[in-house]
Amino acid sequence: MKNDLKNVAEVISKCVAFINSYREFLGCHIVEFYEKNLWNTVFPHEWRSYFEETCFNEEMANDLVLKFLEEKDFKDFPETLRIYLKTCLDLSIFHNPEYQKDLFETSIPYPQKYEKKIPELLKVGMNDKKIHEVSKLCSFLDFISKDLDLDFVIDVGCGKGYLTSALALLMRESRIVGFDYSSTQISGAIGRCDLITKKSRGKLQFDNLCFKESFVDKVLLNKEQQPFVLTSLHSCGNLSSTMIATFCENSNCKMLLNVGCCYNMLTEKHDNENFGFPLSSVLINAGFSLGSRMKNLACHFPESILDSKEEITKHHYRAMLQRKGIEDVKVERNRTHKTWGDYLKSISKSTNVSGITDDHDVEADFVVSSSVLESLIILDRLLYLLENGHDAKLVNIFDRAVSPRCIAILAHKTK
Ligand SMILES: C[S@@+](CC[C@H](N)C(=O)[O-])C[C@H]1O[C@@H](n2cnc3c(N)ncnc32)[C@H](O)[C@@H]1O
Repeated sequence: MKNDLKNVAEVISKCVAFINSYREFLGCHIVEFYEKNLWNTVFPHEWRSYFEETCFNEEMANDLVLKFLEEKDFKDFPETLRIYLKTCLDLSIFHNPEYQKDLFETSIPYPQKYEKKIPELLKVGMNDKKIHEVSKLCSFLDFISKDLDLDFVIDVGCGKGYLTSALALLMRESRIVGFDYSSTQISGAIGRCDLITKKSRGKLQFDNLCFKESFVDKVLLNKEQQPFVLTSLHSCGNLSSTMIATFCENSNCKMLLNVGCCYNMLTEKHDNENFGFPLSSVLINAGFSLGSRMKNLACHFPESILDSKEEITKHHYRAMLQRKGIEDVKVERNRTHKTWGDYLKSISKSTNVSGITDDHDVEADFVVSSSVLESLIILDRLLYLLENGHDAKLVNIFDRAVSPRCIAILAHKTK
């Protein structure tokens, strides 16, 4: 398969067919699922019987996700559940090796030895995940910008300026600008750079960097008169779509490297004039929409059920109470919620919870499909770039085990 418009559109159509056939199930929120007893209505009958017969529990749910992640044979499961899991893997650009081969830049286009290490002092405020992301993105941007002879980088949604400040130090000859609409983030970013300069006794200076507090839209980005690279680390919701549209419209935007996130904040065409999804004419013409539940689900990744099981379990317990008509439950923070017993201890003493017992564990079945939903959103963006005649690819920019939101969209103009 080649990374051309027709093939990307074909993968998108398969994702759409899958999503539409499970829409009722994927479109309901986990709380709603328990609250309205959707277990008995939208949950596929064969799966329900299997879970009931095997007394499916939390451990088995984790096992299901692990099997999914290791791409093992799901031979113990009923036929339709097997097909569902297999299709989730087949349609995921994160898991299907065929797509990895055809839709992605085959290798990171810089030699391994070129990878830059973040200076110790620059790590202020960053955790290991952020350090990994910043060093990968920096090395990549530095290499490609030099290759394309570009010396102006705009980082939108720069937050505390982790990437922006690293770019300024690494690309001394370039001008770097970071935009964010949050005054707290921008003052934090400026304060952080001042602190680094102070701690380094003036050795680390950021005179080629400026932060600007501003809402980023196409109007703002289209004002740029010099050739520039447009980048972002985890740009929320519509910001990624804004970046992609700018790249297509502004001839000065020579290169785009975008890693998105927070798909829940995307606005959709069917309910908003300024929409961020879908972008491609294939999905627009099909009148396709995800709806809020699936946008939320796209923000998860299968590993998250193993990492934040307790958080998900808390939703499940809250829903169980809501189902019994108990609303407005106050839960003490910083308490463990591993078991139903733990949860009961953490809620207000005045809430009458007698006779309510733990229920089935179905979060796993939802969360395995999150990779298909995220794949669809990313492929829609890729297709839009291809539809507009650009050379665009996906890049596995981060190690998925360290940073699961790991795919970047790369596009550049040769002229
Ligand atoms: C998920 S955070 C990422 C921050 C930073 N890039 C990082 O990786 O640490 C997204 C940031 O984008 C900013 N943002 C979202 N939409 C924006 C827009 N349209 N204009 C400016 N900033 C925006 C938010 O304020 C937030 O700081």
